[in-house]
Amino acid sequence: MAEKLKVAFIASECAPYAKTGGLGDVVGALPGALKRLGHEVIVIIPLYQQIDQALFNIKPYLSPVGVWMGDGQEWCSVHQTRNKDAVPVYFINYEKYFLREGIYHDYGFNDYKDNPKRFAFLSKAGLQVCVDIGFKPDVVHLHDWHTAISAAYLKTWFRDHDLLDRTKSVLTIHNIGYQGKYSHEFFPYLGFQESDFTSDKFEDFGDINFLKGGIQYSDMITTVSPKYAAETRTPQGGMGLAPYLNDKSDRYLGILNGIDDRVWNPSVDPLIPANYSSEDLKGKKKCKKALQARLNLDSTQKVPIIGVISRFVEQKGLDLLAQVVDRVLSNMIVQFAILGSGQKDLETYFSNLPYQYPGSVGCHIGYDNELSHLIEAGSDFFAMPSRYEPCGLNQLYSLKYGSLPIVRATGGLDNTVEQYDETNGKGTGFKFMEASTNALYYTIGWAVSTFYDRHDHFLQMQKRGMKQDFSWDRSALEYEKVYRLSQAFTRDCK
Ligand code: ADP
Ligand code: GLC
Repeated sequence: MAEKLKVAFIASECAPYAKTGGLGDVVGALPGALKRLGHEVIVIIPLYQQIDQALFNIKPYLSPVGVWMGDGQEWCSVHQTRNKDAVPVYFINYEKYFLREGIYHDYGFNDYKDNPKRFAFLSKAGLQVCVDIGFKPDVVHLHDWHTAISAAYLKTWFRDHDLLDRTKSVLTIHNIGYQGKYSHEFFPYLGFQESDFTSDKFEDFGDINFLKGGIQYSDMITTVSPKYAAETRTPQGGMGLAPYLNDKSDRYLGILNGIDDRVWNPSVDPLIPANYSSEDLKGKKKCKKALQARLNLDSTQKVPIIGVISRFVEQKGLDLLAQVVDRVLSNMIVQFAILGSGQKDLETYFSNLPYQYPGSVGCHIGYDNELSHLIEAGSDFFAMPSRYEPCGLNQLYSLKYGSLPIVRATGGLDNTVEQYDETNGKGTGFKFMEASTNALYYTIGWAVSTFYDRHDHFLQMQKRGMKQDFSWDRSALEYEKVYRLSQAFTRDCK
């Protein structure tokens, strides 16, 4: 066997401890898959207030840990547990930055004003923790803008450190829409030289850009689907960063996310009322009934349910859905099961729908893990009209749960959903190209008419989708290759 690698994940989220979206799922599952390949992996995240330390058996591990930031040395401590794959997870305990109600923002969705300081601290403290616990990583695996600049600390502050002087960095971009752009006034706190505030490093039209800095300093860069890798290299998809990704095109690639099939698997899922598989779908009917009861929908197997689980933000295209719901419900016999939170106008709009369409629309505003499993299991279709989607996990979950995805053909949605072919029943879902209300409306119509008029095709597609392999083990092999490639680079390359 090739030599095993030591890998440290430094991230802002990790399921099941702290998660706001797919990033948490990835950091929760990929380390275990790498461990199964024989690698030694650790995960480092903040100890947020919301993390249930008793539930997860999280214990104090090391204190104190000193981290040099621009204002001087700051002192934190480290807690530790092991996740369900027995991967050690270290939590940075620093009350000043992490003892708050939310991860990125308060309950009113106002971003914390000191986020640049909080995540610069995490980026540097993550490396310091490796040093203080004596873990000598071959690779640090960084995620999104929140920890991207660890790559820069590695090549500056820790460059000649015994434990880290050979360590390489791999940055995964989960979403280029969030770059961490902040006023230059925060730059001194980061602790880099003022001479590094240049357009080929951190500077972006006068502001600091954390993700750009990370891209410039990382040895390898990945994103979460091949199509999104191509999209982010275009002016529109790259949101200002395409030139930098193109400069490093030989070090940039897309690797599809997997799904953790111990958590998202209808044949073993403990959170749904009945288990089922592609061989025996009886349990799915029970889940549909339970979903209808839970969201006050009319109890009938004959009407298809379209599920939606999402952050209500521009990226997800739910404004398009909001604009077509009336038209859909006036022309088609269908039900909606909606779960999500975010933009206030969308929360208000969707939460009023059950009063306008009693029995046909059910909606829960908020974050509810159990209900998200029930929606996946109880729905017939699952809608994701995203404007852009780096990978998307919910369409993978819905394939696995036999809820046919209705998606815009963008990013990972395009890579993972196979278009329905009406002539022979092939495919796994329904895709449309244009981010428009008409395209969405007609595609919902196409899906719904398939349920009613070509039910044999509907059933074939359900089974085909459920049998697809989106396991993390496959993706982990690709990450292993990237880690090995990163080892070839010299310290100075940028
Ligand atoms: P993103 O990370 O952009 O939000 P993904 O599809 O990759 O999109 O991942 C979303 C993850 O977050 C899924 O695991 C999904 O089930 C979960 N999720 C999103 N919104 C909610 C919610 N309101 N309640 C429960 N889970 C949610
Ligand atoms: C981001 C993306 C989503 C992706 C997830 C995990 O939140 O929006 O498409 O699946 O990260 O990589």
